[in-house]
Amino acid sequence: MKMEKTAVHVALVANLPEPEQLDWLHALRAALPEAAWHLTPSPEEAHRIEIAVVANPKPGALAGLPRLRWIQSLWAGVEGLLADPTVPSTLPIVRMVDPSLAAAMVETALWAVLSLQRDFFAYAQLQRDGMWRKFPQRRADEISVAVLGLGHMGRGVAERLAAQGYIVSGWSRMARADVPPSVRAVTGDDALHALLSRSDIVIDLLPLTPATRGLLDARFFAAMRPGAAFVNLARGGHVVDDDLLAALDSGQVGHAVLDVFNEEPLPPAHRYWSHPRATLLPHVAARTDPTTASRIVADNIRAWRDGRPLAHLVDRTRGY
Ligand code: NDP
Ligand code: OXD
Repeated sequence: MKMEKTAVHVALVANLPEPEQLDWLHALRAALPEAAWHLTPSPEEAHRIEIAVVANPKPGALAGLPRLRWIQSLWAGVEGLLADPTVPSTLPIVRMVDPSLAAAMVETALWAVLSLQRDFFAYAQLQRDGMWRKFPQRRADEISVAVLGLGHMGRGVAERLAAQGYIVSGWSRMARADVPPSVRAVTGDDALHALLSRSDIVIDLLPLTPATRGLLDARFFAAMRPGAAFVNLARGGHVVDDDLLAALDSGQVGHAVLDVFNEEPLPPAHRYWSHPRATLLPHVAARTDPTTASRIVADNIRAWRDGRPLAHLVDRTRGY
């Protein structure tokens, strides 16, 4: 009874299949048993909810929570929340920053870069065609990789690729002090242009903001080294699809590894599905791990309850 009076009321608002929602609720309850968790709150319960833990919620999904104090996203990218007019602009949003998420992203980037370096995607195609053929073998230290975005994902990816022997550069909005010395860090439009022209593989790990939406267009692909590869592990909204398809058709972009798309799920008739120069994943480059992420959520909620500052708040003026 006493517990119920003091418990923080938290709603889980997840645009996920029901079994996944229940898995999340189970993991969150285990990490923070002292909170009152709600999946489908009654109108009376909705009035007591102070925190919403969200996974890519549909626009308007938080509108019925009048006492909401802040939002914890289970996703790293929060562009949907920022674009939702029903989410008050004064409401703090915390995004997911989890070393397990970054580790998964490093694995996907490593798989993509190794496969491109060693032509494993091309060999998979030869197998489908029943052909025995060998390509020249390239060393890692012959391959230049550009990582766009040096945040929680990009920094880990860049550092790991450099440790693997690739020549790695990274591009960010501002100069950063936390970039490892093995990575050449650059900022600004001119530097991006120069970086694209000397890179064999370009990996997108930028957030989706007004400045990055549609940034990867015909001009961008034309600036890449002819035949270089493009890997998008960040957001489909960065890419002008017709421009990427044209660049793939002409061979200007030699191969694209795409995990994220303007429309998800990718429509069955989309040309990417059957493009011989494309390798696709269904937005799984780094999936939030319920066990580790729930601990992070629990720590944040306890911090707030104890009057300590929230970590990893979204800066609305930057848009990420
Ligand atoms: P962060 O916010 O930690 O890092 C963003 C980086 O991008 C920063 O280095 C930032 O620069 C840079 N940046 C932002 N805007 C610009 C700009 N206009 N020009 C140049 N650089 C810019 O994000 P995360 O690393 O956590 O996430 C990166 C991306 O990965 C996001 O899009 C996220 O949604 C996506 N993601 C995808 C997943 C998947 O499964 N496919 C899983 C998890 C994340 P600065 O350092 O100066 O701030
Ligand atoms: C994320 C994602 O942003 O899964 O966390 O894409």
